[in-house]
Amino acid sequence: MTLTIEDIAVFCKKKGFVYPSSEIYGGISGFWDFGPLGVELFNNIREHWWKFFVRSRANMVGVDASIISHPRVWKASGHIENFGDLVLTTKQSKTKLRADHFIEDELSISADGMNAEEIMKLIKKHKLQHKGEDFEELKDFNLMLSTKVGADEKNANTAYLRGETAQGMFTNFKLIAETARQQLPFGIAQVGKCFRNEIAPRDFLFRNREFTIAEFEFFIHPDETTCNLLTKKHRSLKLPLLDSKAQAAGKKEPQPTTIEEMLKQNKLGEWHAYWLAEQYRWLLEVGLNPKKLKVREHVATELSHYSSATFDLDYTFPFGSKEIAGNANRGQYDLTQHIKESNEKLTLFDEATKQHIVPRVIEPTFGMERVFLALLVDAYEEDKKRGNIVLKILPQLAPFTVGIFPLVNKLEKDASKIFGLLRDQFSCTFDRSGSIGRRYARADEIGIPYCVTLDFDGVTKKTVTIRDRNSAKQILVKQDELVATIHQLLSGVALSSVGKPIK
Ligand code: GLY
Repeated sequence: MTLTIEDIAVFCKKKGFVYPSSEIYGGISGFWDFGPLGVELFNNIREHWWKFFVRSRANMVGVDASIISHPRVWKASGHIENFGDLVLTTKQSKTKLRADHFIEDELSISADGMNAEEIMKLIKKHKLQHKGEDFEELKDFNLMLSTKVGADEKNANTAYLRGETAQGMFTNFKLIAETARQQLPFGIAQVGKCFRNEIAPRDFLFRNREFTIAEFEFFIHPDETTCNLLTKKHRSLKLPLLDSKAQAAGKKEPQPTTIEEMLKQNKLGEWHAYWLAEQYRWLLEVGLNPKKLKVREHVATELSHYSSATFDLDYTFPFGSKEIAGNANRGQYDLTQHIKESNEKLTLFDEATKQHIVPRVIEPTFGMERVFLALLVDAYEEDKKRGNIVLKILPQLAPFTVGIFPLVNKLEKDASKIFGLLRDQFSCTFDRSGSIGRRYARADEIGIPYCVTLDFDGVTKKTVTIRDRNSAKQILVKQDELVATIHQLLSGVALSSVGKPIK
């Protein structure tokens, strides 16, 4: 049976990864709560991202900006004017539908970037209706969620919940450059909640009204065209590229294309290429199946108002190949807009030319709930032989790294000591209930990569068994070597090299 997104949603709720928000009141569309396992997995993905893109790089610093900022931020950024979707309203029941999604669902074509006229033409041509109803004229619908700030209701100011984290990097750009003593090129990263008043949230965690973006703005001298970090390895990296020409020709399958080829075809500049390659590398590093990944070049009509070139990194979900990360060339757009709106000098002084310059920007961005969902879809495996689901998530990301089990209840006290030995170093869980087979099955389902079991022999001989989730193979190890052994396993050393196999 093919896996559906509903299967994943049911699984997530049953196991405590994700629940519908405020379910006791019937839920609220586009909002979700992370349960005990979900919060661990989500935090692990987030930490992995931060380590890969921020901590391990000298040219990257972080910021954690407020969710609500001065409303003029969003005027300057263009979000109040341009950040919307087209909405279709049915004539009788006044049902609202997102127009491009409606066209895509009805006609199985891409409607990304289609304007109102094009959409209405298609609706008329194909006599499209929704549940027997015709539509009113198409309307623009702004996605920014607003609120009121201040106690004085009459004069309360409308403010916006941020639609992207990026603006916090632009508004703080000058302060960060000065206080963190950064020189071009450098990046500012942020991971945080964003809000969009989506017309029709759907596909479980994929399209929500509250979600987490992890992104950075990488600031580069406007005249700098070479990237000193772009190595031979990057240049020869083959990306599964679906370029704009192929899309215009109706193609859906990507072609392996090296970064070097993309540079030669002038699809993007060196810094843009470098970050695209690094983004792809991270997605592979967290364990996503490369066969399900695709790099899709935006066609001109779908570019955001701030971008001159964008590449999406798409993952093949059960509901189609969809964006989980993006990479936009924002150029000087945002800083220039904020300079105009605020009259502040958001420029840097270039010692070489003795001029004030406005850096240009490359923006790699990730929808973290989307990455979370892709990882779950990828990891979810029904193991017929074992008769249970095995969640083959990367061990470093698993909600629990180790499960500790006393073989029988009598051994609980001794097994608790093993738990005490491991809990400072790894995320651990202790399970004493049910048969050992049942406990292994439960551990498989929530992705615990290593189960440590203590039996009577182990108490006298000071040993334990480690069971590997993916292979279900077991090894015998000495208790005083257990911590080091798990560290070795996590660093990728094979099970057979760290302990005696148990037949
Ligand atoms: N900053 C990226 C986005 O809004 O999608």
